[in-house]
Amino acid sequence: MILVAGGTGRLGCRVVKVLTDAGDQVRVLTRDPRRASQLPAEIEVVVGDVRRGPLDAAVEGCDRVVSAMHGFAGPGRTSPAAVDRDGNRNLIAAAKRAGVDRFVLLSIVGASPVHPMSLHRMKYAAEQELRASGLSAAIVRSTSFLETWIEIIGAKVDDGGPALVLGPGQNPINFVCVDDVAAFVHLAVHADQRIGAGVSVGGPQNLSFTEIAEHLLARQGRTDRPKQVPLTALKVMSVIARPLRPGFARQARAAVVMNTTDMTFDALPIRNRFPDIPTTTLADVTDAKPRPDERRRRSDPGLRQNP
Ligand SMILES: NC(=O)c1ccc[n+]([C@@H]2O[C@H](COP(=O)([O-])OP(=O)(O)OC[C@H]3O[C@@H](n4cnc5c(N)ncnc54)[C@H](OP(=O)(O)O)[C@@H]3O)[C@@H](O)[C@H]2O)c1
Repeated sequence: MILVAGGTGRLGCRVVKVLTDAGDQVRVLTRDPRRASQLPAEIEVVVGDVRRGPLDAAVEGCDRVVSAMHGFAGPGRTSPAAVDRDGNRNLIAAAKRAGVDRFVLLSIVGASPVHPMSLHRMKYAAEQELRASGLSAAIVRSTSFLETWIEIIGAKVDDGGPALVLGPGQNPINFVCVDDVAAFVHLAVHADQRIGAGVSVGGPQNLSFTEIAEHLLARQGRTDRPKQVPLTALKVMSVIARPLRPGFARQARAAVVMNTTDMTFDALPIRNRFPDIPTTTLADVTDAKPRPDERRRRSDPGLRQNP
């Protein structure tokens, strides 16, 4: 049995699917079982919150654990410190007590103790915790998910509204498709030798927000310019929203960082080592028919996850 914490999320759903397609039994940890209604009926669902341990009941009977959760966008007390650092600490401790054979942690390319974003610092802390735990472990670091940003930039495009670009939107950023990442997680769960202690996964393209916006508009035959949120406004929001809407402030801060720091990633070396995993492009994602779980996410606000 494999426990997937975050199995209701954008990546987690895909991880659950590749694992079950391969014949694995899966249990999903969620704070709200309604979010698990999109998952296949054979999936076991356990209700819990990693911020509030102990999590022994969640991991009981599991030989593997995947942590595919985050607390980046809030709301309220849901934060990278509470979920990514402390929640992972709780989950790792429970996995140790239960004698779990393998723990796979989803982290982020650039995770470091001095990163300007708290998410990256808290992911780094979780990585350290896992390394020190003595568990057999793999850390899968990923660049930004294509699907997350298509949804943010193109939220209104299908209905004739503008494409939204946060900041100047000229900085090249590496984006990866969640299905590609899920394929790496599957290998990590099953201790594929090429994974070793972990991998950093990126996609085949470094794209600016504006390039994504223009691609989404062009698919609709449109030539209008994307709507831009000025960098100064993002900087101001990242500070003034902090006391009342910390998740929103973190998102504004992320947009500033993504516009102003090196976000490129050369995925070629890792992709050459894993020729069996697809290298999905932006056009591949937008040309694919929306998957049923994606469609449900878009139409049901109750199922929407944080970017
Ligand atoms: N999005 C990106 O661009 C990106 C880039 C690099 C790495 N990653 C990493 O990839 C993983 C998946 O990201 P995603 O964007 O697919 O996530 P997502 O769709 O936003 O979903 C977040 C998940 O975290 C779970 N979660 C949040 N707080 C929790 C808590 N207190 N207790 C238990 N579960 C909690 C949620 O479960 P419930 O709501 O059901 O409780 C949900 O399944 C994360 O580890 C993330 O840091 C993401």
